[in-house]
Amino acid sequence: MSIESPSMQPVAFGAATLARFAREVAKYPSDQKQSAVMACLSIVQQEQGWVSPAAEQGVADYLGMPVMAVHEVTTFYNMYNQQPVGRFKLNVCTNLPCALRDGEQALQHLERRLGIQMGQTSADGLFTLQQSECLGACADSPVLLVNDRHMCSFMSSDKLDQLIDGLRAAAKEEA
Ligand code: FES
Repeated sequence: MSIESPSMQPVAFGAATLARFAREVAKYPSDQKQSAVMACLSIVQQEQGWVSPAAEQGVADYLGMPVMAVHEVTTFYNMYNQQPVGRFKLNVCTNLPCALRDGEQALQHLERRLGIQMGQTSADGLFTLQQSECLGACADSPVLLVNDRHMCSFMSSDKLDQLIDGLRAAAKEEA
């Protein structure tokens, strides 16, 4: 009996995406192009919103590495979305230092405010709520990260409400 995973039809990346991959690969010696795996996965996520198994296969094929090695990177780092997420991904830190300083309350406040549980996406597709590991800003707790880039510190219930209102308004303007 074979223990190999079934082969996945890889995503066929467009020319613009492949050009972005090539720019990342060019930063490394020619025999170490696999070092660009994180950058390529980030590009995929920027363009597609998440990293699907088919995209992992596409990146693996492009970099000449086993798809399992790509999958290990995707699953190790919290920033890679392994399923589609909302327009705004909110990662609330609930590690111990933050948990001792209202991190759990911040998460619960968002759950009530958005009407979803941690790990879920709101029905309007705007918000995905997730826990996160330490964000390196323990002294600023409660802290959360918006879309893996924008750090929000000292997030009281009032500040969380303002953030949600602001993001909703921004989404409306974009629509
Ligand atoms: S434990 Fe939350 S930022 Fe460090």
